[in-house]
Amino acid sequence: MRRREFVAATAAATLALLHRGATDGATAAGQPKIPFGAAVRDGPLQDDEAYRQALVQYCQLVVGEGGLKWVDLRPDRSSFDFHQPDRLLAFARQNGMKMRGHTLAWYAAMPEWTNAITSAAEAERELTTHIETVVGRYRGEIPSWDVVNEPLSDDSSASVGLRDSVWAAALGERYVDIALRTAHAVDPRAQLVINDYGLEAATEKARARRLSLLDLVRRLRDRGTPLDAVGFQAHLPGDLDIDTDGVSQLVADLKSMDIEVLVTELDVIDDTLPAEIIERDAIVARRVQDLLGAILSVTQPTAILTWGLTDRYTWVPIWYKRGDGKPNRPLPLTDTFEPKPMMQAIQAVTGG
Ligand code: G3I
Repeated sequence: MRRREFVAATAAATLALLHRGATDGATAAGQPKIPFGAAVRDGPLQDDEAYRQALVQYCQLVVGEGGLKWVDLRPDRSSFDFHQPDRLLAFARQNGMKMRGHTLAWYAAMPEWTNAITSAAEAERELTTHIETVVGRYRGEIPSWDVVNEPLSDDSSASVGLRDSVWAAALGERYVDIALRTAHAVDPRAQLVINDYGLEAATEKARARRLSLLDLVRRLRDRGTPLDAVGFQAHLPGDLDIDTDGVSQLVADLKSMDIEVLVTELDVIDDTLPAEIIERDAIVARRVQDLLGAILSVTQPTAILTWGLTDRYTWVPIWYKRGDGKPNRPLPLTDTFEPKPMMQAIQAVTGG
């Protein structure tokens, strides 16, 4: 599938969908106008049949919550363990879905042995070999890659720099170019994405991150480095408003450079939201609606993916457990797979 095939309708038609609702929005063939998908956890994919059914029912896209990360793929310098991504790809194929790839260059989830990489030449060689091997294996099968994940540092200063990593330490910003150029050379048809978080909220920090990301994209363009899209991870803090103008401006600035956008890891962090479920779910849905509306006011995202499908399997409580001991509810389906208002907010946009 070519990257442009992610886009099935015009922005104007999609805007109309926001107002018309889910059923009206489906295409004649019953396919959503914007592909929807979710991050998939490998364990339950193998042993939770209800989970598998929910994925099939709701998703046109899947992405591994892990499996393609260095820590999972690269037990040592000389080997690759493709069991998890192969399993997910087989599931996707069996059920008529596409699979996204996450991720090729990230500061986190790195195996111990990579700490021994220090020189620029060694880093370039390891990064290049990794990308050639992984993208090469799935060429034509994985149409969209988070090539570089979270390149921006997490500091709060006005000018957000590059995040520390094995790659940044040895190569500086050049690692971003190397990763993108290598991925492009191996699979020129794949959609190449830079993916980051903390871009969406109405805070100074998010504003600085948007500007830094835009600057990075401009520098890449000036250097002639291939890049197709920016991924909004969209782990939305439930207690913060979305900066709808700021998000729209970023999307417009990217569009003016012919850079697409997609939503890659949507969920709403609800640790400080009210305990009452109807109220909490409504706030969660409103954050999602605000974000998607801000993007759709400019262009159609090429895909929308949540980071997990059901509250049964989510990373959120690992970092953002609620003080009152109640379970987190960050995702579109409850822990028993019932759709929540967040799912309606998504389907109003996707037409799914
Ligand atoms: O595989 C081991 C398992 O053998 C062991 O029993 C278990 C005990 O805790 O840990 C398992 O590994 C965990 C792995 O997820 C699989 O569930 C790791 O400890 C844990 O660190 C890892 O966390 C993942 C994290 O990225 C780091 O890779 C989360 O599931 C995943 O949701 C999270 O995803 C990130 C995106 O990649 C990037 N954006 C932010 C997002 C959320 O943090």
